[in-house]
Amino acid sequence: MAPSTHGNLVLLTGAGISAESGLRTFRDADGLWENHRVEEVATPEAFRRDPALVYRFYNERRRSLATVQPNAAHRALARLERAWQGPFLLVTQNVDDLHDRAGSRQLLHMHGELLKGRCLACGAVQAWPGDMDQDSRCPTCQRAPVRPHIVWFGELPLDMDRIYDAVERCDVFVAIGTSGHVYPAAGLVQAVAPGTRTLELNLEPSLVASAFGEARTGRATDLVPAFVDELLGG
Ligand code: OAD
Repeated sequence: MAPSTHGNLVLLTGAGISAESGLRTFRDADGLWENHRVEEVATPEAFRRDPALVYRFYNERRRSLATVQPNAAHRALARLERAWQGPFLLVTQNVDDLHDRAGSRQLLHMHGELLKGRCLACGAVQAWPGDMDQDSRCPTCQRAPVRPHIVWFGELPLDMDRIYDAVERCDVFVAIGTSGHVYPAAGLVQAVAPGTRTLELNLEPSLVASAFGEARTGRATDLVPAFVDELLGG
């Protein structure tokens, strides 16, 4: 049964939705950055071993945001949220701010945000639009440096209680532009209640494609606006 616009909707996005804005996905770039495997830069161990390298990696990522814009897929999801009359949650694995800039507000960044810093002493999280290094002091407590507000490999993703709660109650669960390599995000489709409509929109079938009831392959900027029209029109 097709839900009305009053149904309970949860969407999960990954790097594929930002690819056509010009941000490279993780797996498409071979997971490499200057010959370092991303897993070797994006870990607490890497930060302890070579903080300058880790700060530089995220400074580059943060600066790259100034060169990109939200695309038609980001905008379509913001339009969907404005028109939707029932519970709505957009969960993104992306640390970019393209959903925010497109106008999404019912949004959780489960892997953190490039444009925020977190104090290593008091834990305060604050906006951090510029570069960050070992001398960057926490504006709240002034006691310690800040680190990128990013969930590194081996750390717990953010807001998981709220995310599981929404996924377990939803009528429709949609995953967009994510490869299904990284858990717990890849396992959310298995947390839905029986009878939930599940749909994957991706350039190619993901590793967990078989867990979805429906799959559409193609570019996010084609698939997502069409899917949003369909949901709102139905
Ligand atoms: P991946 O790079 O693993 O996967 C991106 C997916 O997007 C792939 O399945 C591509 O086929 C698909 N894709 C590429 N271009 C597309 C397009 N134009 N339209 C639609 N789909 C497209 O990215 P994620 O699944 O997001 O974690 O990766 C998950 C996590 O792994 C990331 O959040 C990051 C990384 O390690 C952290 O930073 C903690």
